[in-house]
Amino acid sequence: MSKAQILPPTPENFALAAEALQRGEVVGMPTETVYGLAGDAFNPLALARIFETKERPTFDPLIIHVGPFARRVEDLARAGLIDEKKLSEVARTRANALMQAFWPGPLTLILPKSDKVPDLATSGLPTVALRMPRHAVAQALIAASGTSLAAPSANRFGRISPTSAEDVFDELGDRIDWILDGGRCEIGVESTIVAVSESGELTLLRPGGLAPEAIGKVAGTKLLTPGRSENSTSPQAPGMLESHYAPKKRLNLLPDSLERLQSLDELNLYKVTGRQIAVMVLFGSEDDARARFQKLTSIDPKVYILSRESNVEEAAKNLFKTLREMDASDADVLFSEPCAIDFGLGFAIGDRLRRASAKI
Ligand code: TXA
Ligand code: MG
Repeated sequence: MSKAQILPPTPENFALAAEALQRGEVVGMPTETVYGLAGDAFNPLALARIFETKERPTFDPLIIHVGPFARRVEDLARAGLIDEKKLSEVARTRANALMQAFWPGPLTLILPKSDKVPDLATSGLPTVALRMPRHAVAQALIAASGTSLAAPSANRFGRISPTSAEDVFDELGDRIDWILDGGRCEIGVESTIVAVSESGELTLLRPGGLAPEAIGKVAGTKLLTPGRSENSTSPQAPGMLESHYAPKKRLNLLPDSLERLQSLDELNLYKVTGRQIAVMVLFGSEDDARARFQKLTSIDPKVYILSRESNVEEAAKNLFKTLREMDASDADVLFSEPCAIDFGLGFAIGDRLRRASAKI
């Protein structure tokens, strides 16, 4: 069994990784959101390898990462990625505005697909997911490979997304040869996914690293949510399964934030059975959280804080890393506060916590 090598981002290593991609192999690639498992988006063999390596079901389509050439929809059409003829004038204007405002960055756009994109990349859908990453290593790898790169998050299917090269190694180290090291991911949750319909309606398919408020503002229209649009044809994000981002240990969401909870007596059972509890708290200090938890139960938990400064971006950045740490700790059962923040990256944190704690 091969063991992956973590490669520092040197010119020789970019050349090595780019050659591997040109041969149809897959490479671990850093982005500003999470690490991706990259392969040539136009090579069906490479796409098949991505699905196989991740054990990902083929009904879950991939995001294609493009280089800095893509400033407008016509650039994507010229690169054989989208079918711009399907877009109305409104759709085209909105897509261009979003690309200009947020690319490179954590925004994925769903647009009508070109015939040149293999069906495997889009799971047979008539649309394709596209984004331009802003991480310098991802940009350099795309440039060196001379193609666009399909890249899902570099975790085994259903597991916690990786936010460092070491995380990728832990997830896929026995299945791939190379991981380019780009340090800790700056954003720490996946991109925000927005579908642009042919008529120009925008639907938020996945909350992520770009605040949804900012998107509506730039596009000059409200973002719809799946299933709630005027007509029932609003797109869904396939693969957005209820149970996702899951640690190996059971993660339970507390019914409310520690501060607001009145009672948690039922957890005392864990003490009786001698089981170790770890609890994730969004903001504040370890000492306060521990004292609060002990007031509600007789348990002394291991406490993990996402942001001592109560900063939502910092909390998002630490979310997956902290879930991994809790999973690797000697705690038997994991708890987390729910995320009550309904602005900015709070949507993404709440979404990931719900899925990570979903009962299968
Ligand atoms: O930040 C990110 O987006 C990361 C980094 C690596 O770029 N990538 C990522 O990929 O999160 P992945 O495979 O874990 O999530 C891709 C999701 C799919 O599960 C699906 O929900 C959505 O993108 N998607 C892809 N193509 C789509 C399409 N044509 N229509 C609707 N949703 C689509
Ligand atoms: Mg993923």
